[in-house]
Amino acid sequence: MKIVKKAIIPAAGLGTRFLPATKAMPKEMLPIVDRPTIEYIVEEAILSGIEDIIIVTGKGKRAIEDHFDRNFELEQHLKEKGKLDLLEKVNKSSNVNIHYIRQKEPKGLGHAIWCARKFIGNEPFAVLLGDDIVQANVPCTKQLIAQYEQTGSSIIGVQHVSYEETERYGIIDPINNKDRVYRVRKFIEKPKLGSAPSNLAIMGRYVLTPEIFTFLECQEAGAGGEIQLTDAIQKLNEIQQVYAYNFDGKRFDVGEKLGFILTTIEFALHNEELASDVRKMLQRFQNNSSKSTLLEGIH
Ligand code: UTP
Repeated sequence: MKIVKKAIIPAAGLGTRFLPATKAMPKEMLPIVDRPTIEYIVEEAILSGIEDIIIVTGKGKRAIEDHFDRNFELEQHLKEKGKLDLLEKVNKSSNVNIHYIRQKEPKGLGHAIWCARKFIGNEPFAVLLGDDIVQANVPCTKQLIAQYEQTGSSIIGVQHVSYEETERYGIIDPINNKDRVYRVRKFIEKPKLGSAPSNLAIMGRYVLTPEIFTFLECQEAGAGGEIQLTDAIQKLNEIQQVYAYNFDGKRFDVGEKLGFILTTIEFALHNEELASDVRKMLQRFQNNSSKSTLLEGIH
């Protein structure tokens, strides 16, 4: 069985839910505390044993390439000022090979993955969406790779959501499960409210066999007029069993405003430098929300 050493991070979407912020700034570069979202995702890939990452970018996404490039002037400046902790942070992701390909038009996630087909070749690969962060003791992608290594089949990360939320996700119709692994009858992208066969939702992490490209090649637009990865996975599932895995860990949806704000607060509450002030601030606000502003009385 071939091992999973490559990953695709699609980051070419328009980020319309964050407009106008994302008009000139990629949504994947919006910071959670002091690191851009995509850096958390690249870190998960590295910790999962991935050696080569291809980021699918598009128009207006240059900042992503600049972020993962060396910046010698900045490095020199930090060295001269003795700011070695910052220097280490700035160079954190320099141990992995990052490649880029452009999706000329944002035709959908399925199309973005298809754009990376030549880089992947005939190997299994991971996909990590550029706007989902997962915190887990064992990195989420590593959990999926471990499952892949048992069956040699594609495996899709899922978690439970409320039934009201199912219309926002790809949803699986599970046949049966063994521990956290499900055989799947059907994968359905954004089912209409009330029609979802389960509340197990696809959460932006996949390990796929290269046969998926055969289906992406001729995949027509689906939900939202976009070429959907879920639709191609369903076709793959008809010739080659695709499994779902209810991974362990907390997933943060940073691709929409409320999720982004909640993630920022939660990460700040776990940040050594900020935790105490942020906790004080929230406490004060909760005790007297009618009069307080968040900024009152911290320093
Ligand atoms: P989303 O649908 O969440 O991202 O795609 P979006 O389209 O940028 O956001 P909104 O809905 O307009 O606010 C999930 C991931 O897939 C990438 C996105 O960049 C995001 O990381 N994507 C999406 C592509 O790379 N290409 C596409 O054509 C669509």
